[in-house]
Amino acid sequence: MIYNNIKIEIRQEQACDYPMVYDVNLKAFKRKAEARLTDRLRLSDAFIPELSLVAIVDKTVVGHILFTKISIDDDGLQSESLSLAPMAVLPEMQSKGVGSRLVDYGLDRARSLGYKSVIVIGHAKYYSRFGFEPTSKWQIKAPFHVPANAFMAIELVENSLSGIKGIVKYAKEFIEI
Ligand SMILES: CC(C)(COP(=O)(O)OP(=O)(O)OC[C@H]1O[C@@H](n2cnc3c(N)ncnc32)[C@H](O)[C@@H]1OP(=O)(O)O)[C@@H](O)C(=O)NCCC(=O)NCCS
Repeated sequence: MIYNNIKIEIRQEQACDYPMVYDVNLKAFKRKAEARLTDRLRLSDAFIPELSLVAIVDKTVVGHILFTKISIDDDGLQSESLSLAPMAVLPEMQSKGVGSRLVDYGLDRARSLGYKSVIVIGHAKYYSRFGFEPTSKWQIKAPFHVPANAFMAIELVENSLSGIKGIVKYAKEFIEI
Protein backbone atom coordinates (compact mmCIF):
# COMPACT_ATOMS: atom_id res chain seq x y z
CA MET A 1 0.00 0.00 0.00
CA ILE A 2 1.21 3.54 -0.79
CA TYR A 3 0.90 5.86 2.23
CA ASN A 4 2.42 9.36 2.39
CA ASN A 5 4.17 8.43 -0.90
CA ILE A 6 5.98 5.51 0.82
CA LYS A 7 5.29 1.93 -0.27
CA ILE A 8 4.69 0.06 3.00
CA GLU A 9 4.09 -3.69 3.09
CA ILE A 10 2.70 -5.19 6.29
CA ARG A 11 3.12 -8.93 6.73
CA GLN A 12 3.55 -11.61 9.37
CA GLU A 13 7.03 -11.69 10.88
CA GLN A 14 9.27 -14.56 9.70
CA ALA A 15 12.26 -16.05 11.52
CA CYS A 16 14.62 -14.26 9.13
CA ASP A 17 13.20 -10.93 10.36
CA TYR A 18 14.12 -11.50 14.04
CA PRO A 19 17.49 -9.66 13.93
CA MET A 20 15.96 -6.67 12.15
CA VAL A 21 13.02 -6.60 14.57
CA TYR A 22 15.49 -6.62 17.47
CA ASP A 23 17.29 -3.68 15.89
CA VAL A 24 14.07 -1.72 15.30
CA ASN A 25 13.05 -2.12 18.96
CA LEU A 26 16.53 -1.22 20.17
CA LYS A 27 16.69 1.94 18.08
CA ALA A 28 13.08 3.03 18.72
CA PHE A 29 13.20 2.57 22.51
CA LYS A 30 16.92 3.41 22.84
CA ARG A 31 17.39 0.50 25.22
CA LYS A 32 17.41 -3.30 25.09
CA ALA A 33 14.39 -4.06 27.29
CA GLU A 34 11.69 -4.15 24.58
CA ALA A 35 13.95 -5.96 22.08
CA ARG A 36 14.65 -8.68 24.64
CA LEU A 37 10.99 -8.78 25.70
CA THR A 38 10.00 -9.45 22.08
CA ASP A 39 12.50 -12.32 21.89
CA ARG A 40 11.08 -13.82 25.10
CA LEU A 41 7.45 -13.35 24.06
CA ARG A 42 8.01 -15.39 20.88
CA LEU A 43 8.65 -18.39 23.14
CA SER A 44 5.63 -17.72 25.35
CA ASP A 45 2.21 -19.44 25.33
CA ALA A 46 0.79 -15.93 24.87
CA PHE A 47 2.48 -15.59 21.47
CA ILE A 48 0.33 -15.58 18.33
CA PRO A 49 2.57 -15.81 15.22
CA GLU A 50 -0.12 -14.27 12.99
CA LEU A 51 -0.12 -11.18 15.21
CA SER A 52 3.60 -10.48 15.16
CA LEU A 53 3.69 -8.12 12.19
CA VAL A 54 6.43 -6.25 10.42
CA ALA A 55 6.33 -3.16 8.22
CA ILE A 56 8.62 -3.41 5.20
CA VAL A 57 9.91 -0.50 3.15
CA ASP A 58 12.43 -1.22 0.40
CA LYS A 59 12.86 -4.82 1.60
CA THR A 60 13.88 -3.60 5.07
CA VAL A 61 11.99 -4.03 8.35
CA VAL A 62 11.19 -0.50 9.53
CA GLY A 63 8.51 -1.32 12.10
CA HIS A 64 7.13 -4.11 14.25
CA ILE A 65 3.96 -4.62 16.28
CA LEU A 66 3.09 -7.49 18.58
CA PHE A 67 -0.23 -8.58 20.04
CA THR A 68 -0.14 -11.27 22.75
CA LYS A 69 -2.82 -13.11 24.65
CA ILE A 70 -3.91 -11.73 28.00
CA SER A 71 -6.83 -12.40 30.28
CA ILE A 72 -9.06 -10.13 32.30
CA ASP A 73 -9.53 -11.73 35.68
CA ASP A 74 -12.70 -11.02 37.64
CA ASP A 75 -12.22 -12.96 40.86
CA GLY A 76 -11.27 -16.11 38.97
CA LEU A 77 -13.61 -15.58 36.02
CA GLN A 78 -11.30 -15.15 33.00
CA SER A 79 -12.08 -13.28 29.80
CA GLU A 80 -9.64 -13.50 26.90
CA SER A 81 -8.25 -10.35 25.33
CA LEU A 82 -5.08 -9.14 23.60
CA SER A 83 -2.28 -6.82 24.63
CA LEU A 84 -0.74 -4.50 22.03
CA ALA A 85 2.95 -4.25 22.99
CA PRO A 86 5.57 -3.56 22.08
CA MET A 87 5.31 -1.49 18.93
CA ALA A 88 8.30 0.23 17.39
CA VAL A 89 9.22 2.15 14.25
CA LEU A 90 12.79 3.08 13.27
CA PRO A 91 13.42 6.69 14.39
CA GLU A 92 14.14 7.89 10.85
CA MET A 93 10.86 6.37 9.66
CA GLN A 94 8.62 7.76 12.41
CA SER A 95 5.71 10.14 11.76
CA LYS A 96 5.28 8.80 8.22
CA GLY A 97 2.27 6.63 8.95
CA VAL A 98 4.10 3.33 9.48
CA GLY A 99 2.86 2.95 13.07
CA SER A 100 -0.72 3.73 12.05
CA ARG A 101 -0.58 1.14 9.28
CA LEU A 102 0.70 -1.48 11.74
CA VAL A 103 -2.07 -0.71 14.25
CA ASP A 104 -4.86 -0.66 11.64
CA TYR A 105 -3.65 -3.87 9.98
CA GLY A 106 -3.11 -5.58 13.34
CA LEU A 107 -6.56 -4.72 14.65
CA ASP A 108 -8.17 -6.02 11.45
CA ARG A 109 -6.12 -9.21 11.55
CA ALA A 110 -6.94 -9.77 15.24
CA ARG A 111 -10.63 -9.33 14.50
CA SER A 112 -10.49 -11.77 11.60
CA LEU A 113 -8.76 -14.31 13.86
CA GLY A 114 -11.71 -14.06 16.25
CA TYR A 115 -10.25 -11.87 18.99
CA LYS A 116 -12.74 -9.45 20.46
CA SER A 117 -10.76 -6.73 22.22
CA VAL A 118 -7.28 -5.23 22.62
CA ILE A 119 -5.69 -3.44 25.56
CA VAL A 120 -2.76 -1.04 25.31
CA ILE A 121 -0.66 1.07 27.63
CA GLY A 122 0.35 4.22 25.82
CA HIS A 123 -0.26 7.79 24.96
CA ALA A 124 -3.97 8.61 24.91
CA LYS A 125 -3.52 11.12 22.09
CA TYR A 126 -1.91 8.52 19.83
CA TYR A 127 -4.11 5.49 20.49
CA SER A 128 -7.41 7.37 20.67
CA ARG A 129 -7.11 7.97 16.92
CA PHE A 130 -7.66 4.23 16.39
CA GLY A 131 -10.67 4.12 18.74
CA PHE A 132 -8.96 3.12 22.00
CA GLU A 133 -10.66 4.49 25.13
CA PRO A 134 -9.62 4.50 28.80
CA THR A 135 -10.45 1.12 30.36
CA SER A 136 -12.19 2.89 33.27
CA LYS A 137 -15.22 2.82 30.94
CA TRP A 138 -15.44 -0.94 31.63
CA GLN A 139 -13.88 -1.12 35.12
CA ILE A 140 -10.88 -2.96 33.69
CA LYS A 141 -7.76 -2.35 35.74
CA ALA A 142 -4.02 -2.79 35.23
CA PRO A 143 -2.10 -5.12 37.55
CA PHE A 144 0.37 -2.30 38.31
CA HIS A 145 0.20 1.48 38.52
CA VAL A 146 -0.54 3.13 35.17
CA PRO A 147 -1.88 6.68 34.68
CA ALA A 148 -5.63 6.23 34.14
CA ASN A 149 -5.77 7.74 30.66
CA ALA A 150 -2.78 5.65 29.49
CA PHE A 151 -4.53 2.32 30.06
CA MET A 152 -6.85 1.87 27.09
CA ALA A 153 -8.94 -0.71 25.31
CA ILE A 154 -10.76 -1.13 22.03
CA GLU A 155 -13.66 -3.45 21.24
CA LEU A 156 -13.02 -5.30 17.96
CA VAL A 157 -16.60 -6.53 18.10
CA GLU A 158 -19.29 -4.12 19.24
CA ASN A 159 -20.08 -4.41 22.97
CA SER A 160 -17.62 -7.27 23.44
CA LEU A 161 -16.37 -5.65 26.65
CA SER A 162 -19.87 -4.98 27.99
CA GLY A 163 -20.10 -6.44 31.46
CA ILE A 164 -16.39 -7.35 31.48
CA LYS A 165 -14.50 -6.12 34.52
CA GLY A 166 -11.44 -7.17 36.43
CA ILE A 167 -7.66 -7.03 36.47
CA VAL A 168 -5.58 -7.66 33.37
CA LYS A 169 -3.15 -10.59 33.61
CA TYR A 170 -0.15 -10.30 31.30
CA ALA A 171 2.16 -13.05 30.13
CA LYS A 172 4.84 -13.52 32.81
CA GLU A 173 7.48 -12.32 30.32
CA PHE A 174 6.09 -8.78 30.72
CA ILE A 175 6.54 -8.84 34.47
CA GLU A 176 10.17 -9.93 34.09
CA ILE A 177 11.01 -6.91 31.89
C1 LIG B 1 4.98 5.17 18.77
C2 LIG B 1 5.50 4.82 17.38
C3 LIG B 1 5.49 3.33 17.18
C4 LIG B 1 4.60 5.50 16.35
O1 LIG B 1 5.03 5.13 15.05
P1 LIG B 1 4.96 6.17 13.84
O2 LIG B 1 5.25 5.43 12.59
O3 LIG B 1 5.81 7.34 14.15
O4 LIG B 1 3.42 6.58 13.91
P2 LIG B 1 2.56 7.35 12.84
O5 LIG B 1 3.42 7.92 11.78
O6 LIG B 1 1.43 6.50 12.46
O7 LIG B 1 1.96 8.48 13.74
C5 LIG B 1 2.79 9.52 14.12
C6 LIG B 1 2.02 10.44 15.02
O8 LIG B 1 2.04 9.89 16.33
C7 LIG B 1 2.50 10.85 17.23
N1 LIG B 1 3.23 10.15 18.29
C8 LIG B 1 4.24 9.29 18.14
N2 LIG B 1 4.67 8.89 19.36
C9 LIG B 1 3.87 9.49 20.25
C10 LIG B 1 3.80 9.48 21.64
N3 LIG B 1 4.67 8.76 22.36
N4 LIG B 1 2.84 10.22 22.23
C11 LIG B 1 1.98 10.96 21.51
N5 LIG B 1 2.01 11.02 20.18
C12 LIG B 1 2.94 10.28 19.56
C13 LIG B 1 3.42 11.72 16.41
O9 LIG B 1 3.54 12.99 17.00
C14 LIG B 1 2.66 11.80 15.08
O10 LIG B 1 1.63 12.74 15.13
P3 LIG B 1 1.06 13.42 13.77
O11 LIG B 1 0.45 12.31 12.96
O12 LIG B 1 0.04 14.37 14.29
O13 LIG B 1 2.25 14.01 13.12
C15 LIG B 1 6.94 5.37 17.16
O14 LIG B 1 6.94 6.73 17.40
C16 LIG B 1 7.98 4.69 18.06
O15 LIG B 1 8.56 3.67 17.70
N6 LIG B 1 8.24 5.29 19.24
C17 LIG B 1 9.23 4.75 20.17
C18 LIG B 1 8.76 3.47 20.80
C19 LIG B 1 7.41 3.62 21.50
O16 LIG B 1 7.19 4.56 22.27
N7 LIG B 1 6.48 2.67 21.21
C20 LIG B 1 5.11 2.71 21.72
C21 LIG B 1 4.97 2.13 23.05
S1 LIG B 1 4.87 0.35 23.06
